[in-house]
Amino acid sequence: PLRAVIFDLDGVIADTAVVHRSAWEKLAQEIDAPFDEVLAERMKGVDRRGSLEILLERAPRAYTEAEKDELGERKNRYYREQIGSFGPGNLLPGARHAVEATRNAGLRVGLASASRNAPLLLERLGIADLFDYIVDASTIERSKPDPEIFLAAAAGLGVAPAACLGVEDAAAGIASIRAAGMVAVGVGHREALGEADVVLPGLTAFRIGEFVEDQDRATAE
Ligand code: BG6
Ligand code: MG
Repeated sequence: PLRAVIFDLDGVIADTAVVHRSAWEKLAQEIDAPFDEVLAERMKGVDRRGSLEILLERAPRAYTEAEKDELGERKNRYYREQIGSFGPGNLLPGARHAVEATRNAGLRVGLASASRNAPLLLERLGIADLFDYIVDASTIERSKPDPEIFLAAAAGLGVAPAACLGVEDAAAGIASIRAAGMVAVGVGHREALGEADVVLPGLTAFRIGEFVEDQDRATAE
């Protein structure tokens, strides 16, 4: 049976996918690197350095490791400037309710965010206490699409991966959930979430009861 739900943060719970994106776009302009939809979609869910490497694939020149550190820090400054004024109003519609409904159904709730800003953001959104386990992104070695982060969340919750459901807005995240052996729920548009088992337009459409029943049925078969 289903015992836990592990949520991604940016673009699933917090309205921050657009903030990351605009910070990267600003950096791209400064270094004359092309930036488009396809690139932005590929960068989604990927950690800071991984995203930077994707951006630099088509940059007009090569960068040293020290320069890359500076570029990553610069992007983070742009991002932090934007989320500085964030509060509970920056939760995505249905997010708080989806997390609370999951808890009320007796399931454990985890967070698998690649962002080092996740703890700060959770405090600002006022939902830090709703999670039983939050993966510390700085302890993860391999970025999504690798399953490491979702497996670490399941381990932290003390739940077998097969009894977990993961929720993501990025293709890299869906791939990570699937590779971890969990049911993958995508939030957003089907085209961007290829391998998702289920796609919802947003968390307002999240019904924990349906997922519990589906899993019970699958286990009985
Ligand atoms: C992910 C975002 O949650 O966190 C990515 O989807 C971001 O866009 C990544 O690059 C890392 O975030 P941060 O805050 O550590 O730079
Ligand atoms: Mg995300």
